[in-house]
Amino acid sequence: MSHVLGRVVVTGKIPQPGLDLLVGADHDVVAWDESHPISRDELLRRVAGADVIVSLLTEKVDAELLDAAGPQLKAVCNVAVGYNNIDVAACRDRGVIATNTPGVLTDATADIAMALILMTTRRLAEGERLIRSREPWQWGMFMMLGTGLQGARLGLVGMGQIGTALARRAKAFGMTIGYSNRRPVSAAIADELDAEYLSLDELLATSDVVSLHCPYSPETHHLIGPAQLTSMRNTAFLINTARGPVVDEAALVAALERGELAGAGLDVFENEPEVHPGLLERDDVVLIPHLGSATRETRAAMATLAARNALAILAGQDPVTPIG
Ligand code: GLV
Repeated sequence: MSHVLGRVVVTGKIPQPGLDLLVGADHDVVAWDESHPISRDELLRRVAGADVIVSLLTEKVDAELLDAAGPQLKAVCNVAVGYNNIDVAACRDRGVIATNTPGVLTDATADIAMALILMTTRRLAEGERLIRSREPWQWGMFMMLGTGLQGARLGLVGMGQIGTALARRAKAFGMTIGYSNRRPVSAAIADELDAEYLSLDELLATSDVVSLHCPYSPETHHLIGPAQLTSMRNTAFLINTARGPVVDEAALVAALERGELAGAGLDVFENEPEVHPGLLERDDVVLIPHLGSATRETRAAMATLAARNALAILAGQDPVTPIG
């Protein structure tokens, strides 16, 4: 007879391979199974007595939630690489380990960033809307002209795994690479990508496409605000697949209205799932609903990695991918 080793509360629906790992290890697994998100009250009730919380990025893991779980709580395992939904200091204060899922979503997210670059510079969503409008149209020499990427500079704000993976893709499209980061990348990566290390100001002033790949934290809140948008080339595009509040969305709308940049491609929003109405009005903005890691393979890998973190911690071992 197997015995129950620990109570694992999963706060939202996750792919089966992750659940199977947890259940197969004989833990008492309580998983939210509805397609709508769990309410805060229900979540606070459900986490009581949990040894591990497996959380989604839509759940705020703060002191209130940790205390609702109780002092036996060992870990919070986020099914996401970004962990701005977790109060890491509150976890540390309570001796709770926090983990995330780096690595497994790098390619999927870099693909989406590259897709947004192509969509914005080549006006793909606008073209699709034209066809669906059922308005008559005809090929024309000057119809819906976009901007070519060959020889254009991509400026990456944040050069971790996703920024680096996007740089590889962009280089294959003929772009040159500049980046700003807390520290320069290794000589091997800088050589491979011919990547130039820049200050944020230099990057904004000289890039044709600016793509954001930094974590969201108090330090990066509104990192791209009115002054930064003004300093961009008025022919440049802004791409955000990181977190919405890295960009001051109202300032972005105002800058687009003034023609201070040429367009934006956004996968994430400041007050997600709300989108600033000023963005909805604009043809030079591409909007997609936080799809960075949304492939079947990637989501399964994320759930599996979160489950492996949970199992390691429940077995008294080091987690695979701890935060910090
Ligand atoms: C998705 O946004 C993630 O952080 O994994």
